[in-house]
Amino acid sequence: MTRFLPDGDRLHFGAATASYQIEGATTIRGRGPSIWDTFAAKPGAVKDGKDGKDAPDSYFRYTEDADLLRDLGAEYYRFSVAWPRIIPAGTGDVEPRGLDYYDRVVDALLERGVTPTGTFYHWDLPQALEDKGGWLNRDTAYAFADYAMVVHDRLGDRVKVWATHNEPWCATYLGYAAGVHAPGLKLGGEAHRVAHHLNLGHGVAAQRLHAAGCEDVGIVHNLAPIWPEEDCSPEAADGIDAIRNRVWLDPLIDGAYDDGLLRVAPELADPELVQEGDLELIKGSADWLGINYYTPVRPGPTAPPAPGQAVHPETEGYPGAEPVTFVVRDPRTDIGWEVEPRGLEELLIETHKRTGLPLMVTENGAAYDDHDRIERDGVSIVDDQDRIAYLDAHIEATRRAREAGADVRAYICWTLLDNFEWAEGYTKYFGIVGIDPLTKDRIPKASYYWLQSQLKDSAS
Ligand code: FCB
Repeated sequence: MTRFLPDGDRLHFGAATASYQIEGATTIRGRGPSIWDTFAAKPGAVKDGKDGKDAPDSYFRYTEDADLLRDLGAEYYRFSVAWPRIIPAGTGDVEPRGLDYYDRVVDALLERGVTPTGTFYHWDLPQALEDKGGWLNRDTAYAFADYAMVVHDRLGDRVKVWATHNEPWCATYLGYAAGVHAPGLKLGGEAHRVAHHLNLGHGVAAQRLHAAGCEDVGIVHNLAPIWPEEDCSPEAADGIDAIRNRVWLDPLIDGAYDDGLLRVAPELADPELVQEGDLELIKGSADWLGINYYTPVRPGPTAPPAPGQAVHPETEGYPGAEPVTFVVRDPRTDIGWEVEPRGLEELLIETHKRTGLPLMVTENGAAYDDHDRIERDGVSIVDDQDRIAYLDAHIEATRRAREAGADVRAYICWTLLDNFEWAEGYTKYFGIVGIDPLTKDRIPKASYYWLQSQLKDSAS
């Protein structure tokens, strides 16, 4: 069988972005509104009040980005396709100018020797579908598969490695349980229904992609190592693990939602939600798994949230599970996430054992303030030694996981460009390339040149 995944002989490298975070051009050439346009327009939803309009304009500057990737020595570029550019109303008419855009992006990459890998859903759901219930509506799973097929029909001759969803955990629990991401709903445990529809959407799309000859269909999860503190009860830790990790992996591998998960997410036992055949369809539907890792999860003692407040899954516990206080140790990045590369190593080893699937680190990187500067060839650039140290330690952790037997094919860093960091707006910098806020010019940081030298060494 021809496989297009990176081979396992050595660790391969690349960089990632996502459509809404980098493209800009949100209102032109037939693009329909997405849930992120609607959500970001609500006062207070996004820290700096901005939205994807102010993104680095990759819609027009994609050849510059492709040049940056080539010069970096990136073998892979992980990009996502904006559903509202392709099918602006979510279902129905296809917008040819949307397909033409990604066609040009793909060709620009291939001409420069960079292999594109695509993600169909990185959170920019067409608003028209949200108006019909979004991911709470089972029909959205089928609409998603239709859209994925339209994209694959056009790009599949050149893009061979696809992921269906990016981090459905965030789409579900930040978007529909806590309301801190689009669509901004605070439904608590009802959001578990969204998790099933995302799993189903993956399964339906994967089946149809496989039938169309795509052999490398994966899904990208932000699974997490769960490291309970001494005062965390075993039930609380199990509930966190169930909702963070098992709700995604168990249907994929075993075709089941386990009893521990059903204890905290009884919604998933509803036969009208999980219909006959759903779990069988999802089982075995992934050829590879993407892991996005930033930080470990350390549940601490039980702590009931303030009455009437939606539980925030990043700080207070997961809906349906015992509320806990999460502990975050130092050092931390500028977004407050603990730096702990051992978490990545453990996650890769355990996930490979659990799934047997080839893995790729599809995102890993760090937000820092980026205040230090140095001169390089007469240009003042960001001297982000902290980001270099973070990337270095996590690449090392990935290598250690490989040595311990985990089949990890690639390390893809988040992210090529500073961009729209969701609810944080443009206030957090994850890029190895900075963006001039006025001109949108790309200015590589010290970490870009550092990674470039690493990639040269690894290729030789
Ligand atoms: C992940 C997202 C990605 C980016 C990083 C920092 O959760 O997939 O788009 O925002 O976090």
